Amino acid sequence: VTRRFASRAFVPIVLALAGCRDQPPDASTPGDPDRGRRVLAAHECGVCHEIPGVTGAHGRVGPSLHSFTRHPYVAGKFPNTSEVLVSWIKDAPAMAPLTAMPDLAVDDRDARDMAAYLYTLE
Ligand code: HEC
Repeated sequence: VTRRFASRAFVPIVLALAGCRDQPPDASTPGDPDRGRRVLAAHECGVCHEIPGVTGAHGRVGPSLHSFTRHPYVAGKFPNTSEVLVSWIKDAPAMAPLTAMPDLAVDDRDARDMAAYLYTLE
């Protein structure tokens, strides 16, 4: 019984480890990362997030965006692709109604540039 349990427990662990290593998120955002860094600061994302390279971004309400290219999921459940990320930045509660991240009314261009910047964080 113990051995059968062990092998069943093993499969999800291996899958989880594979998932961790099997990054890289699809970072093919057609955005401008330099402009993205500035609009991240202008929208005050850093009130809630630590974002390396963005002035004043040391918030602790949301997850750190340090090494963002290595986050396999956005908000722990959406695959980290550029389209998902842009949608999340534009209106997080539309994707996850109970999330603590508010809809910040970010327009499409700003969201794409922000995403492009976040995908420079290795
Ligand atoms: C009021 C606080 C707050 C503000 C302001 C905020 N966020 Fe968030 N953000 C959060 C929280 C909380 C989460 C975690 C959401 C969850 O897991 O449901 C999150 C999650 C994220 C994630 C997913 C991170 C991950 O690794 O899962 C990204 C990317 C993100 N925010 C980007 C932004 C950007 C860009 C802005 C500015 C336009 C911003 N956030 C502004 C609170 C905030």
